[in-house]
Amino acid sequence: MSNLAVELPGLSLKNPIMPASGCFGFGREYSNFYDLSRLGAVIIKAATGEARFGNATPRVAETASGMLNAIGLQNPGVEKIIAEQLPFFRNYDTPIIANVAGSTIEEYELVAEAISNSPDIAAIELNISCPNVKEGGVQFGTDPVLASEVTRRVKAKSKVPVYVKLSPNVTNIVDIATAVEAAGADGLSMINTLTGMQIDLNARKPILANKIGGLSGPAIKPVAIRMIYQVKQHVSIPIIGMGGITTAEDVLEFLLAGSSAVAIGTANFQNPLICPEIIEALPAVLKKYGFSSIQDAIGKGHEHATANISRT
Ligand SMILES: Cc1cc2nc3c(=O)[nH]c(=O)nc-3n(C[C@H](O)[C@H](O)[C@H](O)COP(=O)(O)O)c2cc1C
Repeated sequence: MSNLAVELPGLSLKNPIMPASGCFGFGREYSNFYDLSRLGAVIIKAATGEARFGNATPRVAETASGMLNAIGLQNPGVEKIIAEQLPFFRNYDTPIIANVAGSTIEEYELVAEAISNSPDIAAIELNISCPNVKEGGVQFGTDPVLASEVTRRVKAKSKVPVYVKLSPNVTNIVDIATAVEAAGADGLSMINTLTGMQIDLNARKPILANKIGGLSGPAIKPVAIRMIYQVKQHVSIPIIGMGGITTAEDVLEFLLAGSSAVAIGTANFQNPLICPEIIEALPAVLKKYGFSSIQDAIGKGHEHATANISRT
Protein backbone atom coordinates (compact mmCIF):
# COMPACT_ATOMS: atom_id res chain seq x y z
CA MET A 1 0.00 0.00 0.00
CA SER A 2 1.39 3.42 -0.99
CA ASN A 3 1.93 5.93 1.79
CA LEU A 4 -0.84 8.10 0.32
CA ALA A 5 -3.47 5.30 0.40
CA VAL A 6 -6.48 5.41 2.74
CA GLU A 7 -9.16 2.76 3.42
CA LEU A 8 -12.61 4.10 4.32
CA PRO A 9 -16.01 2.40 4.36
CA GLY A 10 -16.72 1.51 0.72
CA LEU A 11 -13.71 3.49 -0.52
CA SER A 12 -10.22 2.23 -1.26
CA LEU A 13 -8.49 5.52 -1.98
CA LYS A 14 -5.09 5.58 -3.70
CA ASN A 15 -4.66 9.05 -2.20
CA PRO A 16 -6.88 11.21 0.06
CA ILE A 17 -7.69 13.89 -2.56
CA MET A 18 -11.10 14.25 -4.24
CA PRO A 19 -12.86 17.14 -5.94
CA ALA A 20 -15.81 18.45 -3.86
CA SER A 21 -19.41 18.22 -5.00
CA GLY A 22 -20.59 21.02 -7.28
CA CYS A 23 -17.07 22.16 -8.13
CA PHE A 24 -16.26 19.45 -10.68
CA GLY A 25 -19.59 18.86 -12.46
CA PHE A 26 -19.60 15.28 -13.71
CA GLY A 27 -15.88 15.33 -14.48
CA ARG A 28 -15.98 15.75 -18.26
CA GLU A 29 -14.46 19.25 -18.47
CA TYR A 30 -11.64 18.38 -16.07
CA SER A 31 -10.85 15.19 -17.97
CA ASN A 32 -9.49 17.49 -20.71
CA PHE A 33 -6.84 18.68 -18.26
CA TYR A 34 -5.67 15.42 -16.65
CA ASP A 35 -6.31 11.71 -16.20
CA LEU A 36 -9.11 11.42 -13.60
CA SER A 37 -7.63 8.07 -12.48
CA ARG A 38 -5.05 10.11 -10.56
CA LEU A 39 -7.75 11.23 -8.10
CA GLY A 40 -8.45 9.43 -4.83
CA ALA A 41 -12.17 9.67 -5.67
CA VAL A 42 -14.63 12.06 -7.34
CA ILE A 43 -17.68 13.53 -5.61
CA ILE A 44 -20.20 14.41 -8.30
CA LYS A 45 -22.73 17.28 -8.38
CA ALA A 46 -25.89 16.85 -6.28
CA ALA A 47 -28.64 14.62 -7.64
CA THR A 48 -32.35 15.25 -6.92
CA GLY A 49 -35.44 13.26 -7.91
CA GLU A 50 -36.37 15.50 -10.85
CA ALA A 51 -34.27 17.90 -12.93
CA ARG A 52 -33.66 21.28 -11.30
CA PHE A 53 -32.74 24.44 -13.15
CA GLY A 54 -31.31 26.17 -10.10
CA ASN A 55 -31.70 29.76 -8.93
CA ALA A 56 -31.91 32.94 -11.04
CA THR A 57 -28.64 34.67 -11.97
CA PRO A 58 -26.38 36.26 -10.82
CA ARG A 59 -25.69 33.24 -8.65
CA VAL A 60 -21.95 33.49 -8.01
CA ALA A 61 -19.86 36.39 -6.68
CA GLU A 62 -16.20 36.74 -5.78
CA THR A 63 -15.38 37.76 -2.18
CA ALA A 64 -12.16 38.41 -0.26
CA SER A 65 -10.47 34.98 -0.07
CA GLY A 66 -13.45 33.10 -1.42
CA MET A 67 -16.71 33.15 -3.31
CA LEU A 68 -20.44 33.18 -2.73
CA ASN A 69 -22.69 30.83 -4.67
CA ALA A 70 -26.41 30.25 -4.84
CA ILE A 71 -26.56 27.71 -7.66
CA GLY A 72 -29.57 25.96 -6.12
CA LEU A 73 -28.76 22.30 -6.86
CA GLN A 74 -29.02 22.57 -10.64
CA ASN A 75 -28.88 19.02 -12.04
CA PRO A 76 -30.57 16.87 -14.71
CA GLY A 77 -32.31 14.56 -12.16
CA VAL A 78 -31.19 11.22 -10.79
CA GLU A 79 -32.33 8.98 -13.69
CA LYS A 80 -30.50 11.06 -16.30
CA ILE A 81 -27.39 11.18 -14.11
CA ILE A 82 -27.40 7.38 -13.84
CA ALA A 83 -28.01 6.86 -17.57
CA GLU A 84 -25.97 9.68 -19.10
CA GLN A 85 -23.26 10.78 -16.65
CA LEU A 86 -22.10 7.80 -14.61
CA PRO A 87 -21.01 5.54 -17.52
CA PHE A 88 -18.37 8.15 -18.43
CA PHE A 89 -16.47 7.32 -15.23
CA ARG A 90 -16.00 3.67 -16.35
CA ASN A 91 -13.06 5.05 -18.38
CA TYR A 92 -11.27 5.81 -15.11
CA ASP A 93 -9.99 3.87 -12.13
CA THR A 94 -11.37 6.05 -9.34
CA PRO A 95 -14.33 5.55 -6.98
CA ILE A 96 -17.36 7.81 -7.50
CA ILE A 97 -19.28 9.31 -4.60
CA ALA A 98 -22.83 10.48 -5.38
CA ASN A 99 -24.07 13.64 -3.66
CA VAL A 100 -27.74 13.05 -2.80
CA ALA A 101 -30.17 15.94 -2.15
CA GLY A 102 -33.91 16.40 -1.76
CA SER A 103 -36.77 18.56 -0.50
CA THR A 104 -38.42 15.79 1.51
CA ILE A 105 -37.22 12.63 3.25
CA GLU A 106 -39.07 10.61 0.59
CA GLU A 107 -37.08 12.36 -2.16
CA TYR A 108 -33.81 11.64 -0.35
CA GLU A 109 -34.84 7.97 -0.04
CA LEU A 110 -35.81 7.72 -3.71
CA VAL A 111 -32.58 9.31 -4.98
CA ALA A 112 -30.35 7.31 -2.60
CA GLU A 113 -31.99 4.02 -3.53
CA ALA A 114 -31.83 4.68 -7.28
CA ILE A 115 -28.25 5.92 -7.43
CA SER A 116 -26.83 3.38 -4.97
CA ASN A 117 -28.23 0.60 -7.18
CA SER A 118 -25.85 1.77 -9.89
CA PRO A 119 -22.65 -0.30 -10.05
CA ASP A 120 -20.80 2.94 -10.83
CA ILE A 121 -21.28 4.37 -7.32
CA ALA A 122 -19.03 3.46 -4.36
CA ALA A 123 -20.61 5.67 -1.68
CA ILE A 124 -23.21 8.38 -1.05
CA GLU A 125 -22.57 11.84 0.31
CA LEU A 126 -25.90 12.78 1.88
CA ASN A 127 -26.30 16.52 1.38
CA ILE A 128 -28.36 17.79 4.30
CA SER A 129 -26.54 21.11 4.18
CA CYS A 130 -27.33 23.01 0.98
CA PRO A 131 -28.06 26.63 2.02
CA ASN A 132 -29.32 27.65 -1.42
CA VAL A 133 -32.70 25.96 -1.80
CA LYS A 134 -36.05 27.03 -0.37
CA GLU A 135 -37.14 23.60 0.86
CA GLY A 136 -35.18 20.75 2.36
CA GLY A 137 -31.41 20.90 2.25
CA VAL A 138 -30.11 22.80 5.20
CA GLN A 139 -33.27 22.46 7.30
CA PHE A 140 -32.37 18.75 7.70
CA GLY A 141 -28.80 19.63 8.60
CA THR A 142 -29.53 22.14 11.34
CA ASP A 143 -31.85 20.03 13.49
CA PRO A 144 -30.38 16.89 15.14
CA VAL A 145 -33.75 15.10 15.12
CA LEU A 146 -34.37 15.68 11.39
CA ALA A 147 -30.70 14.95 10.58
CA SER A 148 -30.97 11.66 12.43
CA GLU A 149 -34.26 10.72 10.75
CA VAL A 150 -33.07 11.39 7.19
CA THR A 151 -29.82 9.51 7.87
CA ARG A 152 -31.62 6.46 9.27
CA ARG A 153 -34.10 6.31 6.38
CA VAL A 154 -31.46 6.81 3.68
CA LYS A 155 -29.22 4.18 5.30
CA ALA A 156 -32.13 1.72 5.09
CA LYS A 157 -32.44 2.32 1.32
CA SER A 158 -28.80 2.67 0.31
CA LYS A 159 -26.74 -0.25 -1.01
CA VAL A 160 -23.48 1.65 -0.38
CA PRO A 161 -21.94 3.43 2.64
CA VAL A 162 -23.42 6.84 3.50
CA TYR A 163 -21.29 9.89 4.42
CA VAL A 164 -23.47 12.65 5.83
CA LYS A 165 -22.44 16.14 4.72
CA LEU A 166 -22.80 18.57 7.61
CA SER A 167 -23.72 22.24 7.54
CA PRO A 168 -21.52 24.74 9.39
CA ASN A 169 -24.57 27.00 9.82
CA VAL A 170 -25.33 25.67 13.29
CA THR A 171 -24.52 26.63 16.86
CA ASN A 172 -23.44 23.15 17.90
CA ILE A 173 -21.91 20.97 15.18
CA VAL A 174 -21.13 18.15 17.64
CA ASP A 175 -24.83 17.60 18.40
CA ILE A 176 -25.58 17.08 14.69
CA ALA A 177 -22.51 14.87 14.14
CA THR A 178 -23.25 12.59 17.09
CA ALA A 179 -26.93 12.35 16.08
CA VAL A 180 -26.12 11.17 12.55
CA GLU A 181 -23.45 8.76 13.82
CA ALA A 182 -26.04 7.23 16.18
CA ALA A 183 -28.48 6.99 13.23
CA GLY A 184 -26.02 4.77 11.33
CA ALA A 185 -23.90 7.11 9.18
CA ASP A 186 -20.76 5.37 7.90
CA GLY A 187 -18.85 8.65 7.80
CA LEU A 188 -19.12 12.43 7.82
CA SER A 189 -18.29 15.00 5.20
CA MET A 190 -17.71 18.52 6.43
CA ILE A 191 -18.12 21.36 5.85
CA ASN A 192 -20.59 22.75 3.34
CA THR A 193 -20.67 26.51 2.70
CA LEU A 194 -21.38 29.22 5.30
CA THR A 195 -24.32 31.50 4.54
CA GLY A 196 -23.28 34.99 3.47
CA MET A 197 -24.28 38.08 1.49
CA GLN A 198 -22.61 40.82 -0.51
CA ILE A 199 -24.28 44.15 -1.41
CA ASP A 200 -23.67 46.15 -4.61
CA LEU A 201 -23.07 49.78 -3.56
CA ASN A 202 -24.35 51.29 -6.82
CA ALA A 203 -27.42 49.12 -7.16
CA ARG A 204 -28.04 49.24 -3.38
CA LYS A 205 -29.11 45.61 -3.32
CA PRO A 206 -27.59 42.18 -2.73
CA ILE A 207 -25.42 41.01 -5.64
CA LEU A 208 -26.88 37.51 -5.78
CA ALA A 209 -30.42 37.24 -7.18
CA ASN A 210 -31.10 34.81 -4.33
CA LYS A 211 -29.74 37.52 -1.97
CA ILE A 212 -28.11 34.93 0.32
CA GLY A 213 -25.45 32.49 -0.87
CA GLY A 214 -22.91 30.02 0.48
CA LEU A 215 -19.38 31.23 1.23
CA SER A 216 -16.53 28.89 0.27
CA GLY A 217 -12.78 29.09 -0.34
CA PRO A 218 -9.82 29.98 1.93
CA ALA A 219 -11.98 32.38 4.00
CA ILE A 220 -13.79 29.41 5.60
CA LYS A 221 -10.78 27.16 6.28
CA PRO A 222 -10.34 28.05 9.97
CA VAL A 223 -14.05 27.39 10.55
CA ALA A 224 -13.76 23.98 8.89
CA ILE A 225 -10.64 23.07 10.88
CA ARG A 226 -12.28 24.10 14.16
CA MET A 227 -15.44 22.09 13.44
CA ILE A 228 -13.57 18.96 12.31
CA TYR A 229 -11.33 19.16 15.38
CA GLN A 230 -14.36 19.40 17.68
CA VAL A 231 -16.31 16.65 15.95
CA LYS A 232 -13.29 14.29 15.88
CA GLN A 233 -13.30 14.33 19.69
CA HIS A 234 -16.85 12.99 19.81
CA VAL A 235 -17.29 10.52 16.92
CA SER A 236 -15.50 7.38 15.80
CA ILE A 237 -16.65 7.34 12.15
CA PRO A 238 -14.24 8.79 9.55
CA ILE A 239 -14.45 12.39 8.36
CA ILE A 240 -13.93 13.66 4.81
CA GLY A 241 -12.78 17.25 5.42
CA MET A 242 -13.18 20.29 3.15
CA GLY A 243 -13.33 24.07 3.22
CA GLY A 244 -10.78 26.33 1.57
CA ILE A 245 -8.05 23.84 0.74
CA THR A 246 -5.54 25.20 -1.81
CA THR A 247 -2.21 23.53 -0.86
CA ALA A 248 -0.74 20.22 0.34
CA GLU A 249 0.01 21.95 3.67
CA ASP A 250 -3.72 22.68 4.01
CA VAL A 251 -4.39 18.97 3.44
CA LEU A 252 -2.02 18.05 6.27
CA GLU A 253 -3.78 20.56 8.54
CA PHE A 254 -7.14 18.87 7.79
CA LEU A 255 -5.59 15.45 8.53
CA LEU A 256 -4.17 16.68 11.85
CA ALA A 257 -7.61 18.08 12.78
CA GLY A 258 -9.10 14.62 12.26
CA SER A 259 -10.00 14.18 8.58
CA SER A 260 -9.16 10.85 6.95
CA ALA A 261 -9.44 12.29 3.42
CA VAL A 262 -10.25 15.70 1.95
CA ALA A 263 -12.25 17.32 -0.81
CA ILE A 264 -11.21 20.37 -2.80
CA GLY A 265 -13.93 22.68 -4.10
CA THR A 266 -13.53 26.35 -4.99
CA ALA A 267 -9.80 26.03 -5.77
CA ASN A 268 -10.70 23.98 -8.91
CA PHE A 269 -12.25 27.12 -10.45
CA GLN A 270 -9.01 29.05 -10.06
CA ASN A 271 -6.71 26.25 -11.13
CA PRO A 272 -8.20 23.20 -12.85
CA LEU A 273 -4.99 21.26 -12.12
CA ILE A 274 -5.15 21.89 -8.36
CA CYS A 275 -6.04 18.28 -7.40
CA PRO A 276 -3.17 16.54 -9.26
CA GLU A 277 -0.76 19.29 -8.17
CA ILE A 278 -1.63 18.72 -4.51
CA ILE A 279 -1.39 14.92 -4.92
CA GLU A 280 2.09 15.41 -6.35
CA ALA A 281 3.16 17.74 -3.54
CA LEU A 282 1.78 15.65 -0.65
CA PRO A 283 4.60 13.09 -0.11
CA ALA A 284 7.22 15.84 0.39
CA VAL A 285 4.93 17.76 2.78
CA LEU A 286 4.24 14.62 4.83
CA LYS A 287 7.97 13.97 5.03
CA LYS A 288 8.82 17.58 5.92
CA TYR A 289 6.50 17.45 8.94
CA GLY A 290 7.67 14.00 10.06
CA PHE A 291 4.91 11.68 8.82
CA SER A 292 5.52 8.46 6.91
CA SER A 293 1.97 8.09 5.56
CA ILE A 294 -1.48 9.70 5.45
CA GLN A 295 -2.68 7.18 8.00
CA ASP A 296 0.10 8.28 10.33
CA ALA A 297 -1.09 11.92 10.29
CA ILE A 298 -4.85 11.46 10.85
CA GLY A 299 -5.93 13.09 14.12
CA LYS A 300 -2.38 13.86 15.20
CA GLY A 301 -3.31 17.49 15.94
CA HIS A 302 -5.06 16.21 19.07
CA GLU A 303 -2.14 14.62 20.86
CA HIS A 304 -1.14 17.71 22.81
CA ALA A 305 -4.70 18.51 23.85
CA THR A 306 -4.90 18.41 27.64
CA ALA A 307 -8.69 18.18 27.64
CA ASN A 308 -11.51 18.09 25.15
CA ILE A 309 -12.51 21.54 23.98
CA SER A 310 -16.11 22.55 24.66
CA ARG A 311 -18.87 21.28 22.40
CA THR A 312 -19.89 24.66 21.00
C1 LIG B 1 -20.33 26.56 -7.00
C2 LIG B 1 -20.48 25.58 -5.87
C3 LIG B 1 -21.43 24.55 -5.98
C4 LIG B 1 -21.58 23.62 -4.94
N1 LIG B 1 -22.50 22.61 -5.08
C5 LIG B 1 -22.62 21.68 -4.08
C6 LIG B 1 -23.52 20.57 -4.22
O1 LIG B 1 -24.18 20.39 -5.24
N2 LIG B 1 -23.61 19.69 -3.18
C7 LIG B 1 -22.87 19.84 -2.02
O2 LIG B 1 -22.99 19.03 -1.09
N3 LIG B 1 -21.98 20.86 -1.89
C8 LIG B 1 -21.85 21.77 -2.88
N4 LIG B 1 -20.93 22.80 -2.75
C9 LIG B 1 -20.10 22.88 -1.51
C10 LIG B 1 -18.72 22.24 -1.74
O3 LIG B 1 -18.82 20.88 -2.08
C11 LIG B 1 -17.83 22.39 -0.47
O4 LIG B 1 -18.43 21.72 0.61
C12 LIG B 1 -17.61 23.84 -0.06
O5 LIG B 1 -17.52 24.70 -1.19
C13 LIG B 1 -16.35 24.02 0.81
O6 LIG B 1 -15.17 23.65 0.12
P1 LIG B 1 -14.24 24.70 -0.70
O7 LIG B 1 -13.99 25.87 0.21
O8 LIG B 1 -13.00 23.92 -1.03
O9 LIG B 1 -15.02 25.10 -1.91
C14 LIG B 1 -20.77 23.74 -3.77
C15 LIG B 1 -19.81 24.76 -3.67
C16 LIG B 1 -19.65 25.67 -4.70
C17 LIG B 1 -18.60 26.75 -4.58
